[in-house]
Amino acid sequence: MKALVFKEIKKPLKLIERPGLAPQSGQVVVALKAAALNRRDYWITQGLYPGVNPVVVLGSDGAGVVSLTGDGVDPSWKGREVIIYPGRDWGDSEAAQSKRFHVLGGPMDGTFATEVAVPAAQLHSKPLHLDWREAAALPLAGLTAYRALFSHGGVESGETVLITGIGGGVATFALQFAARAGAKVWVTSSSPRKIQQAVGLGAQGGFDYTNQTWPAEFTKIAGAPNLIIDSAAGKGYRSLIEIAAPGARIVNYGATAGQPEKLDMFRVFWKQLRLIGSTLGSPKDFSRMLAFVEKHQIKPVIDAVFPLSEGNQAIEQMARSPQFGKYVLEIKH
Ligand SMILES: NC(=O)c1ccc[n+]([C@@H]2O[C@H](COP(=O)([O-])OP(=O)(O)OC[C@H]3O[C@@H](n4cnc5c(N)ncnc54)[C@H](OP(=O)(O)O)[C@@H]3O)[C@@H](O)[C@H]2O)c1
Repeated sequence: MKALVFKEIKKPLKLIERPGLAPQSGQVVVALKAAALNRRDYWITQGLYPGVNPVVVLGSDGAGVVSLTGDGVDPSWKGREVIIYPGRDWGDSEAAQSKRFHVLGGPMDGTFATEVAVPAAQLHSKPLHLDWREAAALPLAGLTAYRALFSHGGVESGETVLITGIGGGVATFALQFAARAGAKVWVTSSSPRKIQQAVGLGAQGGFDYTNQTWPAEFTKIAGAPNLIIDSAAGKGYRSLIEIAAPGARIVNYGATAGQPEKLDMFRVFWKQLRLIGSTLGSPKDFSRMLAFVEKHQIKPVIDAVFPLSEGNQAIEQMARSPQFGKYVLEIKH
């Protein structure tokens, strides 16, 4: 097998040959057709992701065909087209993951490879309306968007929803899901081109978060959001608290722009805001996300496709955030 291996912090991943994988008890081996990148992969290469150190194969997203089944696994899985739930050991609570929870692609070897070994319990049938690239783009970002928007955010038809930094992989799913749920969706972005693309996906319009007047413009044009889905935090977080409608929920799943500078707690309690943290999603969230995607025939937004051998270029490009949607790695055998 071939694998793109993270061997040293801040150094390119190395494409190496390895012996083929053998499934352990309860596991299968999936011959991968495509994988996809997440910001997490970039953070790991920079040494900025706690608990994941070299040497490991990165990649949390993958789609392919089951090639081998281990002891205790229903042999009829062999030959089936699958996508992979990207978490492991979520635990029994829907409220939050267990301490044992971890994500595929560090510390366990992930999907930037021609094959991956995973527990059979992580497999789901590939949605029929998606090709390999689209199927690989879905798992981690689709799951994160679904939990933030529905399980935590409780989005309802007719609500005004704001999604920040729409270029992000999770954000584009959140936009597609919220629009299909009947919400009026607005976005922010540093790029007028991405705002236009978001409108093409069903957004009402967008605002440039690098322009200090955006919160006032938002209030004038869009009113007050009932639900905000944010992965930036940082300095701009205070504006989210300012513009939120009374009783709004602000769901945060990342801190790309760092810690908020100041939290206006007077506004938080007076407006009865709910500030909610969200991470990935449970196996139940994943099943519900797949059902939603199939029901609405949603197709992931793919910005670019690279061969596995050019995974480093994809990660370098992601560092500059020119993308709208997902970067996919196509895997040839
Ligand atoms: N908790 C979890 O389970 C989980 C899961 C997935 C991702 N995350 C985190 O969520 C974040 C996004 O990840 P991703 O993979 O979806 O995104 P991504 O593809 O890495 O995109 C990042 C986007 O963030 C936006 N951004 C950057 N600075 C911003 C700012 N100051 N204000 C608003 N937006 C800003 C940019 O949007 P524009 O280009 O439109 O300006 C950029 O395109 C990362 O921090 C990631 O680690 C967390």
